[in-house]
Amino acid sequence: MNAQDKITAYWSGHAPAYDAYQQRPERLADNTRAWSAVWRDALGEEKRDVLDVGTGTGHAAMILAALGHRVTGIDLADGMLAEARRHAATVTAGPEFMQGDAVAPDFPPASFDAIAARYVMWTLREPEVAVANWMRLLRPGGIIAVVDSTWHTGGLQASTDRFAAHYDAEVGAALPLAEAASIDDTAAVLDRAGLTDVTVTPLLAIYELDEKYGVAPGHQIQMQYAVTGLV
Ligand SMILES: C[S@@+](CC[C@H](N)C(=O)[O-])C[C@H]1O[C@@H](n2cnc3c(N)ncnc32)[C@H](O)[C@@H]1O
Repeated sequence: MNAQDKITAYWSGHAPAYDAYQQRPERLADNTRAWSAVWRDALGEEKRDVLDVGTGTGHAAMILAALGHRVTGIDLADGMLAEARRHAATVTAGPEFMQGDAVAPDFPPASFDAIAARYVMWTLREPEVAVANWMRLLRPGGIIAVVDSTWHTGGLQASTDRFAAHYDAEVGAALPLAEAASIDDTAAVLDRAGLTDVTVTPLLAIYELDEKYGVAPGHQIQMQYAVTGLV
């Protein structure tokens, strides 16, 4: 199994538990409100063609669609896509989900107005190649908006057993941002790719929700950031 296959296998197997956590009923209404504001701030009011890369269970994709954007979500993990499609089936004008590699999404140039990626940069094997490819998919005036944090400053192997078994030394070596100590490393990737107006925004409302409701066992509350840039 190569590094990407290990990553994909981890997320496929983890999909039901990940989705249940994302949909925690006690947090759901607050969460939807807060993330709607995050994506509205990042992408503005104009309705756009958005590609959500590494869409997972479709969390960002569903919120973007509810905001009126036309959304396509791609992921490599079948298990994650199954959860995402289950959510899409509950709404009208929901996202379309398909299998695809976030590093090299297979769409014609200038297919989208925006690329979104939540919690994906840290687990991308070639983030600079990915951002260059995303830029080619964007029309003039397009925007890239990623959300991430410094999840693994203590090292990938410090996490839970199943996670560490998949995110092993080979995978860690393939992921330049996985153990980054600062979100500035993510912003630098967008900068180096040639995006303009690269902006890092701490997501205070999400931090406050994490404080109010707590985070997953074995995790610590961490500031998350929106990092945006324009083509
Ligand atoms: C932490 S989850 C985030 C899921 C979702 N974006 C969210 O906000 O909940 C990371 C996701 O990235 C996906 N992923 C990792 N590398 C990928 C790649 N090269 N191409 C497509 N998806 C990828 C995984 O399968 C997983 O669904």
